[in-house]
Amino acid sequence: MKDSLKQHFPIYSHTPNLVYLDSGASALKPQVVVDKVKEYYEQYGVNIHRGLYEASDRATTEHDNARGIVAQFINAEPEEIVFTYGTTHGLNMLATSLGQSLKKGDNIVLTTWEHHANLIPWQQIAKKTSVELRFIDIDDDYQIDLEDAKKKIDSHTKIVSFAHVSNTLGSKAPAEELIVLAKQVNAITIIDAAQSIVHLKTDVKKLDVDFLVFSGHKLYGPTGIGVLYGKKEKLALLSPVTFGGDMILDVSYEQAEWNDVPYRFEPGTPNIAGAIGLGAAVKFIESIGLQHIQKRETKLTNYLIVQLSSLPNVQIIGSSQSNKHHGVVSITIEGIHTHDIAEICNRHNVAIRVGSHCAMPLMKKLGLPGGTARFSVGMYTDKDDVDKAILALEDAIRIFS
Ligand SMILES: Cc1ncc(COP(=O)(O)O)c(C=O)c1O
Repeated sequence: MKDSLKQHFPIYSHTPNLVYLDSGASALKPQVVVDKVKEYYEQYGVNIHRGLYEASDRATTEHDNARGIVAQFINAEPEEIVFTYGTTHGLNMLATSLGQSLKKGDNIVLTTWEHHANLIPWQQIAKKTSVELRFIDIDDDYQIDLEDAKKKIDSHTKIVSFAHVSNTLGSKAPAEELIVLAKQVNAITIIDAAQSIVHLKTDVKKLDVDFLVFSGHKLYGPTGIGVLYGKKEKLALLSPVTFGGDMILDVSYEQAEWNDVPYRFEPGTPNIAGAIGLGAAVKFIESIGLQHIQKRETKLTNYLIVQLSSLPNVQIIGSSQSNKHHGVVSITIEGIHTHDIAEICNRHNVAIRVGSHCAMPLMKKLGLPGGTARFSVGMYTDKDDVDKAILALEDAIRIFS
């Protein structure tokens, strides 16, 4: 195995020819995460919080530790971390809860590059409450248009929610500037960090954002686990939207008193193995070093863009500047449907994602009915992977020319 980071990911031992360029959909899992999840199921695989016995104590401690590890990773306090089932779950929770206080005349500001997870929950709320949905546009270089943001965010704006990094374009939103604009009108701010969390150092205090959500599986962790960060004072004001065991302090037949934050947002048995596995994933990233990973990925994305640009009839759907791509490069090839690109890539063991990437309105706006072919990198991606992907694309171009 040429690349030392690949050795941490057991999938490469099982499938040595794999060229995985779909990390934006889900990152591969390192051995340490697989081992930690296995350890839970083998050694103390019982419920948390409830059992007054050793295995339950251990499970509770490991689950608590994971919360602390995740908190530290984004510079939050442990009680500001709510475990969810993923980004989609976190955004739905926020939309449902915050939507309760909205009324006609208010508006919610999103961007035109949102993933469906940060669009459809707000559409549902908008339908129920008759609030207006507004979308900050992108400019000709596929970046957020701050001048447009200044027009869209006004004194009636109650919520500003946006993806920190677009899963289709790879562009980064000017989060700090958007948050300042939102705060000037006392709007609540939400960052969908599903893509950014794995590529950018995330510091919630520095961002001064109210809520931030992400998924474990894009961060080299297990599926079915996610995080909803909320500022302590904002979480305290948020009403729970799912109810049941473990989220209460006292219950009568008539009513219930909520447990402390964050437990009031975690009813029922959570994804215990998932949370513990996510803790292991974060520790693993820290052992490699996020800065080191970033450096590698930036270099590789640069190389990928140079190689893609050298192919005939390839158009990059994203910034012309490679340093404005954060782990994601989308393309179209004139005369070849994106599904055919994926099919030929698959023949070369190159795994990519094609289509609308759950950003259908953006694809429609850009006039791309077949969507794009998206190449997304992870810490394990190397030059060899890019070279193989380019060979596959050359093959596709030859076949369809
Ligand atoms: C920007 C963005 N937001 C939200 C999501 C939804 O994440 P999940 O499917 O893990 O809930 C994704 C997944 O691709 C994404 O890229």
